[in-house]
Amino acid sequence: MIKKKRDPRPIGVFDSGVGGLTVVKELMNELPHQSIIYFGDTARVPYGSKSKEAIKRFSLEITHFLLRNDVKAIIVACNSASAVALEELKIVSPVPVYGVIDAGINVALRETRNKKIGVIGTKATIRSESHKINIKSKEPSVEISTKACPLFVPLIEEGMFDNHITREVVKDYLTEFKTAKIDTMILGCTHYPLLNRVIREFLGPSVMLIDPAKELVKKIKLEFESYGKEKKLNDEPIEVKYEFFVSDVPDDFLKASGSFIHLEPTSVKKIFLDELEYKQVLQAEIKVSPQVN
Ligand code: DGL
Repeated sequence: MIKKKRDPRPIGVFDSGVGGLTVVKELMNELPHQSIIYFGDTARVPYGSKSKEAIKRFSLEITHFLLRNDVKAIIVACNSASAVALEELKIVSPVPVYGVIDAGINVALRETRNKKIGVIGTKATIRSESHKINIKSKEPSVEISTKACPLFVPLIEEGMFDNHITREVVKDYLTEFKTAKIDTMILGCTHYPLLNRVIREFLGPSVMLIDPAKELVKKIKLEFESYGKEKKLNDEPIEVKYEFFVSDVPDDFLKASGSFIHLEPTSVKKIFLDELEYKQVLQAEIKVSPQVN
């Protein structure tokens, strides 16, 4: 690996709400020397029920916001956005952009023994067929069952990770995966790892649950590994900064996120949507449009 000079710029991460914090948590654990800027689009969550065009526009706006904040890489910590907007984001961004779809697929293909894989996600993610197309292109013999689970995100945003309502919804959505006899389930939405316990309880221990965030962070760690090594060599203090931005109601964001990531109330800032500079983003969209669809 080529040894890079330490780049103190933050890694940008975005999601439609709190779900992407599952990725931030992984990043904080695995890359403790990296600064992070997180954007949760809480004013427009959920993305999963929105059109492809809307999700692309929101993702482009946030990408430009993160770029203006001088990030060195962008993690699209949202499967819905990764499924429909990743290619456009890669075109407009001068820094690397990573999505979560591929990461989940790679580990599922590695882990499945009976070649029956399940995928759950938002309506936008499942409708895009990104997982199906990608898995089939890599391993045509795999049987894939997919299902949109639109009630999961509101339950999670409300902090209802494990109660009787959540358990009923899990049973209703996931019964068909038992019939399909899958042995591997991709949690194709960054919110879903927060339901890990109830999903595991329902599907049983023979089904492996895949959290794509873990795999993605492993990959990113390899890319940025030399910074950590450099720290050990020089032992210079590295200032690490975590910043969190939301587009609405920071209080709810703190409440929902408090149980899995510790946030100081002062560290969350609200960004008004017009600060995301629609005009600039629309120009970017026009520029890339000949290459899409
Ligand atoms: N967490 C997001 C995802 O991974 C989307 C949830 C939503 O906004 O619908 O798909």
